[in-house]
Amino acid sequence: MALRAVSKRFGATQVLDGIELGIAPGELIVLLGRSGCGKSTLLRIVAGLSEPTSGRVEIGGRDVTGLEPRERDLAMVFQSYALYPHLDVASNIAFPLMIRGVAASERRARVEEVARLLGLEALLDRRPAALSGGQRQRVAIGRALVRRPPLYLFDEPLSNLDAGLRSRMRAELRALHARLGATMLYVTHDQTEAMTLADRIVVLEAGRVQQVAPPEEIYRAPANRFVAEFVGQPPINLIEGEVRGGRFVARAHAAPPLCALPGVPDGACVLGVRPEHVRVEPDDGAGALRAEVTLAEPIGDRTHLHLDLGGLALRATVGGRDAFRYREGDRVALGIDGAVCHRFDPRTGQRVS
Ligand SMILES: Nc1ncnc2c1ncn2[C@@H]1O[C@H](COP(=O)(O)OP(=O)(O)OP(=O)(O)O)[C@@H](O)[C@H]1O
Ligand SMILES: [Mg+2]
Repeated sequence: MALRAVSKRFGATQVLDGIELGIAPGELIVLLGRSGCGKSTLLRIVAGLSEPTSGRVEIGGRDVTGLEPRERDLAMVFQSYALYPHLDVASNIAFPLMIRGVAASERRARVEEVARLLGLEALLDRRPAALSGGQRQRVAIGRALVRRPPLYLFDEPLSNLDAGLRSRMRAELRALHARLGATMLYVTHDQTEAMTLADRIVVLEAGRVQQVAPPEEIYRAPANRFVAEFVGQPPINLIEGEVRGGRFVARAHAAPPLCALPGVPDGACVLGVRPEHVRVEPDDGAGALRAEVTLAEPIGDRTHLHLDLGGLALRATVGGRDAFRYREGDRVALGIDGAVCHRFDPRTGQRVS
């Protein structure tokens, strides 16, 4: 399927601005962006529930922009999924088959298959009112999965599930995608979900596509400051400064150069340093970069450190044997390898390669 220059305005508000996106058959595309950036709006336009102000939607090579939702062969799981309150779980899941006149025996077989997949076998006789939020969400997913259209749209389908169930469902969805070979367009604001599920991630911000790339590339070669800061936990350090004589010097801060950038021409620059790329060692008094730990947040296998380097705040992550090594108030020596840092243009925010 494809989106061609899709824009959407609500009154004076431009919610989507010239979205271009081509999705190959069988691809699992995750649309990632923060709350309010236009994800649901875009999905509703693909589904035919909302009309674009301009632009076209193509599914299976044909222009479907003017078509009704039921004329587009797709299934959608909504962010606010509405189940039929008077129908039990089995009938809720079977509903799309019922309105298409699928025979009762086949309906039963498909519902059972989907129920097994989603762990709903014991709940098939219940009404939605007697289900937890997470169970209802799984019924809504089941209702979409029970048909076999070539295109599935998911709008944050796992947001009501607890962490354990969410990670299991992620794996299930991934496996299901491999088995069905269907095209999936999946919306989330959760970067972990995006990284683990996607063939390619589309990062959306302010109604514009910021980058389209496989997860690894989004992380290792972010197209701009926004993508760099949005993906990665804890977030990347973005440091304003300049390159001078092949070294990066942070602005408004008295410390020595942070790292070597051999061959990089002089000029203003924003340096991006992932927390895991800040090397932390006990301070032996000899290093050039000496900092103080202002906060240590152990999370088990790793600890997130907040550091003060002569007035410059930095985040670092230490793990392995060092996971519980440092505490607030410790003095440490830092090392930053310029070769793994990102550089961004301070004016445009675009990555400089
Ligand atoms: N019918 C509408 N009329 C006016 N503004 C709308 C309408 N629908 C959405 N918006 C606005 O468009 C913007 C994008 O909304 P949308 O629901 O697409 O965001 P989202 O990315 O799905 O956010 P979330 O992650 O919170 O679900 C928001 O600012 C929202 O207020
Ligand atoms: Mg939404």
